[in-house]
Amino acid sequence: MRFRAKILALSVVTAIMAYSWRDTFVAESLRGAKVLVTGASTGIGEQMAYHYASFGAQIIITARRENVLKKVAEKCLELGAQKALYVPGDMSNTTDPEKVVKFAVEALGGLDYLVLNHIGPSPFAMWDGDVEHVRWLMQVNFLSYLQMTSSALPHLEKTGGSIVVVSSMLGKMCTPFVGPYTATKFSLSGFFGTLQHELAMQRKNVTVTICVLGLIDTQSAMDKIKGYTSMKAYPATDAALHIIKAGATRQRESFYPLYTYFGSLFRDWFPFLRDLFIQNSYNYEP
Ligand SMILES: *[C@@H]1O[C@H](CO)[C@@H](O)[C@H](O)[C@H]1NC(C)=O
Ligand SMILES: *[C@@H]1O[C@H](CO)[C@@H](O)[C@H](O)[C@H]1NC(C)=O
Repeated sequence: MRFRAKILALSVVTAIMAYSWRDTFVAESLRGAKVLVTGASTGIGEQMAYHYASFGAQIIITARRENVLKKVAEKCLELGAQKALYVPGDMSNTTDPEKVVKFAVEALGGLDYLVLNHIGPSPFAMWDGDVEHVRWLMQVNFLSYLQMTSSALPHLEKTGGSIVVVSSMLGKMCTPFVGPYTATKFSLSGFFGTLQHELAMQRKNVTVTICVLGLIDTQSAMDKIKGYTSMKAYPATDAALHIIKAGATRQRESFYPLYTYFGSLFRDWFPFLRDLFIQNSYNYEP
């Protein structure tokens, strides 16, 4: 009995420790850091660009729309970025991911952070059997991440750099209406989890940080879920700062908001209740 109590106490302490890393972040560590942020024209990516800028980083931002990127880059310079350039890229195009990394490495003379954040649009609806859409989304949300990682790794090894992967609670738990998106996020968890092992076993000084996010109040997310659920959404700017800190402190996995941590922890404890809860948290009539 006393042994069990000790195990329980140890588990609780470990859980608290796992979440209390944030205090170790030093803003100064990002001054002059060479950062590439994808999906940076709107939402969490845009907010990350602004945070990196205010910490005095040198950043390259990418997304599809050049006119929007230009505005974000200008604001980054106003906020204090040492350098802020943009490069348009379409991640559904199989040659663009490599092209973007090349541009960043050449423009900055190296790379410290590869922040993979972009996603392609996907309907919020029950799956209609469209496999072609899943194939397309896999390229945008998953394969392009691998292409960029592959191009950036040699440069990250030189600087002891980091790859930051923006994932989701939906890369840990299945919910209705988001099959293709969930598939891409589970793929990211699987692939980058493996990469973490391999980099460690090869004693390579490159860290991979996987960020598990809950519902964030970006325009695109809010438009999608409107009318389906009344779940609370958390601010994109806080999510962005959380991701940056997790990357800078070289965390393996990081959770925002806190409920995603407990959700992941307790995911498989009561599957029947979990599924009942998930299915009842949406308004849906067949
Ligand atoms: C990908 O982009 C390149 C230019 O960057 C272009 O030549 C090529 O046609 C594009 N491919 C597709 C499939 O759109
Ligand atoms: C790994 O990289 C980090 C960050 O660049 C650096 O602080 C650290 O000294 C490096 N460690 C080794 C063993 O080279």
